[in-house]
Amino acid sequence: MLYNLTMWLFAKSAFGTEKYTAFELKYLGAKEIFTSPGGVYFRGNKADMMRINYKIRTATRVLWILDKFQWHGEKELYGKVKDIQWERLFLPKMSIVIHHDTDRKYLKDSRMLSLITKDAVCDRFREKKGLRPDIDKEKPDIRIFVTINKNYCYISLDTSGDSLNMRGYKTGYHPAPLRETLAASLIFATGWNRRDVLVDPMCGSGTIPIEAALYYFNIPPQIKRKHFSFMNFHSFDKELWNDIRTEAVKQIMDSKKSPIFAGDISADFVDITMEHAKSLDLEKKIKWHVADFKDFKPPRSRGILLMNPPYNKRLKQDKTKEFYGMIRDTLKINYRGYRAFILTGDMENYRKIHLKPASEIDLYNGPIQVKLLKYLIKH
Ligand SMILES: C[S@@+](CC[C@H](N)C(=O)[O-])C[C@H]1O[C@@H](n2cnc3c(N)ncnc32)[C@H](O)[C@@H]1O
Repeated sequence: MLYNLTMWLFAKSAFGTEKYTAFELKYLGAKEIFTSPGGVYFRGNKADMMRINYKIRTATRVLWILDKFQWHGEKELYGKVKDIQWERLFLPKMSIVIHHDTDRKYLKDSRMLSLITKDAVCDRFREKKGLRPDIDKEKPDIRIFVTINKNYCYISLDTSGDSLNMRGYKTGYHPAPLRETLAASLIFATGWNRRDVLVDPMCGSGTIPIEAALYYFNIPPQIKRKHFSFMNFHSFDKELWNDIRTEAVKQIMDSKKSPIFAGDISADFVDITMEHAKSLDLEKKIKWHVADFKDFKPPRSRGILLMNPPYNKRLKQDKTKEFYGMIRDTLKINYRGYRAFILTGDMENYRKIHLKPASEIDLYNGPIQVKLLKYLIKH
C-alpha cells in the first residue's frame, strides 16, 4: 500500500470551504476527489503531491494517508502503526511530532492516541535501525497525524510542514488579519471571473487583495516558501521538484495591471498592505487608496466588493447601528450593480445592515465562526 505509484492524500481545509478545495484539486490534476467535513480526499502521485502543496490556495496542509483501518479501540493501534515501514519513509535522525484528532467524544483521554503512535513509531525504528527519532513539538522535521473519523482510523504523514496558510508575505502587524486560505476561499465563493473589478475597501493587512492578485496572475501561493516536509522524505526527488517549480513559475501571467482595488481608512494599514504586496512584486499591480468606505468611489462597472469590516469588541456596541447604516447607504449609492460580499463575525449585529442577503455561507476564520453575506446591489 505504501509504495504504490499513486497514493491517497487528504487536503485539510476549514469547515465550509471544502468545496473550493475540491474545485482547486480538480484543476490541479488530483483524481478520485471526495469531500469530507474539514477537507478533501484524493489520489495523486508524488509529482501531484508536490505540485498541490505549491499551488493550492485554500488548504492548510496535505496529508499522505499511510493506512486506514476500522477503529476497534486503542489496543489495535500500536500494532497497526508498528506495521508501517517508517524506516523506508524517513531517517531516525529526523525529529517527529504526533498530532491526534478524533470525533470520539467518549475516548477518555485522546492524548493516548499520540502516545501509542509515538511508541509504535519509535519501537519500530529502534528494532530496524537501532536508533529512534527524537520528539520536537516546536519545529519537527516530520509530523504524523492519527485521526479517528466515523469508525475509521487514519495514520498519515504530513507532506507540507508549516501550515500552508503561511505564505511568507505578512511581515506587518494588524490586530484582525484573515487567514490567507480563508481569503482565497472567499475569492472563489464570490465567483470572481478575473475580468470584473474586485474591490476591498477595508483591506487591513491586505489578505484579500493580495490573495486575489496571486490568483489573478496565477502566482503559486507558496512561491516564497523554501521548505516543505516532503523534502525530509527518503523519496524526495529534487529534480522532479525543480521541474514542478519551474513549470509553475512559467505559468505566471505576465501583465502589468489587474482589476483589483484595495484601501482602508487607515493610511498605516494601507502602507502595511503595500509592503506585503511589494514582497511579491505586486505593489504596482493593485490600485490603492486611503479613504473612509463611504467616501471611496469604485469604478462604475460590474464588479465585486469583498470586505471584512471590523467586528466584536473592536466596534463599540452603541456605534453598530450607525456603522451598519453607513455600510448600507454606501452600498446603495456607490456600489450600484455590484455583487457585494461581506465577511462578518458579528453574529449579534450584522442584521442591522437591513438589507436582505441573496445568500449566507457559514465559515470559520481559525476557531472563530464567521458568515459570508452576499448582497446584489440594484443599478
Ligand atoms: C477586520 S479588519 C480587516 C482585516 C483584513 N481583511 C486583513 O486580512 O487584514 C477591518 C478593517 O477595516 C478598516 N476600517 C474600519 N472602518 C473603516 C471605514 N469606515 N472605511 C474604511 N476602512 C475601515 C480598519 O482600519 C481595519 O483595517
